Amino acid sequence: MTPFKTVALEHASRLINHGPTVLVTSIDGARRNIMAAAWSMPVEFTPPRIAVVIDKHTFTRELVMASGTFGICVPGASAVDVTYAVGSSSGRDTDKFAEYGIVPIIGPVLGLPLVETNCAAWLECKLIRERHTEDAYDTCFGEVVSAAADPRVFNNGHWLFDASNESLHTLHHLGAGNFARASDMLRAKPLP
Ligand SMILES: Cc1cc2nc3c(=O)[nH]c(=O)nc-3n(C[C@H](O)[C@H](O)[C@H](O)COP(=O)(O)O)c2cc1C
Repeated sequence: MTPFKTVALEHASRLINHGPTVLVTSIDGARRNIMAAAWSMPVEFTPPRIAVVIDKHTFTRELVMASGTFGICVPGASAVDVTYAVGSSSGRDTDKFAEYGIVPIIGPVLGLPLVETNCAAWLECKLIRERHTEDAYDTCFGEVVSAAADPRVFNNGHWLFDASNESLHTLHHLGAGNFARASDMLRAKPLP
């Protein structure tokens, strides 16, 4: 695994701009957790802010509300099985990190468990309390306070998907455990 490189906060929104399925990580004291989320997006460049839907019945939601923080990890194609697994079981009665052999690193700013193995990037977020959107739409907002990415696939503020880094191409959920992965890049040209 190539060491992750810090991503400048003004570029953090690009890590989820293209709509990858992500892993939401959380910790509150001795309790930690990880779940899959297909519904996340940037909402502000500066300061970098994002939104993610975290259902109120999930254990993740309980930990996020208790700690006021959450992590977002961007899995690569080689993490497809574990992504689906952590999105198909609850961590309320089991530690999914231990169960699925996921070894997290500790986030540098918020101390969140973050996954680098088979992942392309991660972001540490401070929860921005918005009780109405949380209650009505399960939509939680966060301010990104640190971010990093694998430079083989995200460098100098840009994604690069090519044949050399296919295992890190991001995942996009099609439903029922089927995923597409980000593939060939297309460069838009001005119309004649
Ligand atoms: C591919 C995939 C995408 C998902 N996307 C979301 C999502 O955006 N928001 C959400 O609340 N749950 C989503 N889920 C469901 C949660 O991951 C699932 O309820 C999980 O078991 C919650 O775990 P927890 O109780 O340990 O927090 C998704 C599941 C999968 C498999």
